[in-house]
Amino acid sequence: MTAAALELNPTAPRPVEESRPLVDGRQTHPLYNDQKMKLGLFGTNCSYGLIMSHAESTYKATWEHTLQVARTAEAIGFEALVPIARWRGFGGTTNFNGTCFETYAWAAGLAQATERIGIFATSHLPTMHPIVAAKAATTIDHISGGRFGLNLVMGWFSPEMEMFDGSQREHDERYVFGQEWLDLVLKLWSEEGSFDHRGEFFTCTGVESYPKPHQAPRPILINAGNSKAGVEFSARNVDINFASLTTLEEMKAYTDTIRAKARDDHQREITTMTYGLIVCRDTEKEAKAAFDNVIEKGDWGAAENVMKIAGMQSQSFNEQIKQFQERFIAGWAGYPIVGTPEQVTEELGRLHAAGMEGMIMGLIDYNEEMKYFDANVMPLLKQAGLRH
Ligand SMILES: Cc1cc2nc3c(=O)[nH]c(=O)nc-3n(C[C@H](O)[C@H](O)[C@H](O)COP(=O)(O)O)c2cc1C
Repeated sequence: MTAAALELNPTAPRPVEESRPLVDGRQTHPLYNDQKMKLGLFGTNCSYGLIMSHAESTYKATWEHTLQVARTAEAIGFEALVPIARWRGFGGTTNFNGTCFETYAWAAGLAQATERIGIFATSHLPTMHPIVAAKAATTIDHISGGRFGLNLVMGWFSPEMEMFDGSQREHDERYVFGQEWLDLVLKLWSEEGSFDHRGEFFTCTGVESYPKPHQAPRPILINAGNSKAGVEFSARNVDINFASLTTLEEMKAYTDTIRAKARDDHQREITTMTYGLIVCRDTEKEAKAAFDNVIEKGDWGAAENVMKIAGMQSQSFNEQIKQFQERFIAGWAGYPIVGTPEQVTEELGRLHAAGMEGMIMGLIDYNEEMKYFDANVMPLLKQAGLRH
């Protein structure tokens, strides 16, 4: 029996309390605050976080620990917690990221347990029906009082996408699917009454979703596509793009390009942020030694698996490949910052000058090193005018 046959009256107005968000969400998400250099943590829901290494750390992917890390991050004023969506590990001696919490459920738990920090779920779009995702996101947005955000990922790691239905779409096709998925979610978040959807990937009859998100008209959206199709998707749809780039020059050019694209092609604004491992110690020597220890105790097998699947493995094992593998081992190929509190502050300043409005970081030992960061780096960031 269809919705129409049941006379569910798709156009009837819903009661105001069901449909109206209480506050304009753009005021409630911490990533919309006026800190010049926003800070967050990346990967605190997965074993080994951002390091493929047996380097010593108290970090564990347990609920008690991830909760403690979240509370410390909130206490020192960080803006965001961004989890990694992962369904299987990368093998090697660590089975890197193989023990991990599903991110909507993780975000819901942390939303209830915190009061100020922004909390994201990272959603592999092909793994969740848009109707379920729209409602899960809305639920967490309400639990958090408008501090929720969604990281939209298409799923590049084919073995985990194949876990779901034995297949993986071709690269650009993933973004075509992602666009239809997101369009449907946006409609569910904003449209009153019910509607039908007939698309290439979804056929839905008489769909509706209440309540609407706390953040109006939608929660903050982020994406990390850096390919042509990924940049197009970001420019069209999201608030923040995360750039995975090697040099400051590349970051500046990238930021200028994606901002111009969003303005010219879609009449909207987008900002850019980046990610990477931060290793900060009293002396440069100590910081470098801690970074080198991550590499020395690295899980080269896991890094090789990642590079093979990401299509970066070349025929010969040359120095360039080795360096790239090291970047994966120490910070998931993000932008590494290694040095004293002064050097870390300077580097964050350079990133900001290159257009990056924030950084979500990995730390060898999240909880312990955040306390050091708070005592030693935060005051310098304030002096440098990057934070207040
Ligand atoms: C900050 C950041 C977070 C990401 N999180 C995930 C994730 O949780 N799960 C995942 O499968 N891919 C994740 N990715 C990978 C991206 O979604 C994307 O596949 C990758 O950037 C390549 O996209 P592209 O081929 O369009 O450039 C992340 C990338 C970045 C930079």
